[in-house]
Amino acid sequence: MKVRTAVFPVAGLGTRLLPATKAMPKEMITLIDRPLIQYAVQEVIDAGVERVVFISARSKRALEDHFDRTPELEYQLEESGKDEVLEDMRRLSFMCDITYVRQKEPLGLGHAVLCAKDVIGKEPFAVILPDDIIMSKKPVTQQLIENYNKTGRSVVSLMEVPAEDTSKYGIVELGEQADKGLFRLDGMVEKPKSNPPSNMAIIGRYILTPEIMESLEKTQAGSGGEIQLTDAILEVAKKDGVYGYLFEGQRFDCGNMYGLFEAVVHFALERDDMRDFAVEVLKNASSKY
Ligand code: G1P
Repeated sequence: MKVRTAVFPVAGLGTRLLPATKAMPKEMITLIDRPLIQYAVQEVIDAGVERVVFISARSKRALEDHFDRTPELEYQLEESGKDEVLEDMRRLSFMCDITYVRQKEPLGLGHAVLCAKDVIGKEPFAVILPDDIIMSKKPVTQQLIENYNKTGRSVVSLMEVPAEDTSKYGIVELGEQADKGLFRLDGMVEKPKSNPPSNMAIIGRYILTPEIMESLEKTQAGSGGEIQLTDAILEVAKKDGVYGYLFEGQRFDCGNMYGLFEAVVHFALERDDMRDFAVEVLKNASSKY
């Protein structure tokens, strides 16, 4: 069945980016000239997804506004003959259909995904954590969808991380290799404090079959006292099998200032309209310090 829907849990407070996120959703932090959420939504659209679901909360109004029409702005741009910008703004507000669901209590990532149950119904869907911005030739969501199409099972994105960082991620135990970069998963544990099963981490892109919802309903609070998506996926893995895919691309953790800065540098260097300027700035800065 086609993966038509992508769920974006965007209810988190973004405390790692304070004070930037004190009065603004973390997903609205900009990477050069557009907010993180726009990169993530563009990625799923490029992968053929038709419908976006934001699992949102209070104080996230700016996200809704960003993807809505702005008649005053459009009028002004039209009057001043800024046709190209006007076109960009219109395209942005018609990018996709967005459904908003409120997560009324911060009970964890698993709980956020469960909030989408009625909207999802009986279809497979993508889950996108927009803090994880991934630069790649082929959108990572598409890479996962292709592997879902091969296996008919849930597929999570994987990346190798340094041993000292395993306690920050969901860590998997790799099983049999099924294809290039594709492994059956024999186990997984959310943020292991000791004895991680490997140094293969789950990154914020998932294709999940609808069975996950039943599993989430039974999942008790786990790591950090929250209902964890990883725990629910493990139960689906035991019953039906779940795959992990070592995606191609470079991931930036834009939920903290180091990852965000690294992303700004790399994205600037990738852009034709920024590259020369960015190289010049970096050269000057490195000769000064
Ligand atoms: C979440 C998931 C974790 C995953 C990580 C990837 O954790 O729970 O399994 O490895 O995203 O970014 P968070 O970073 O939201 O605590």
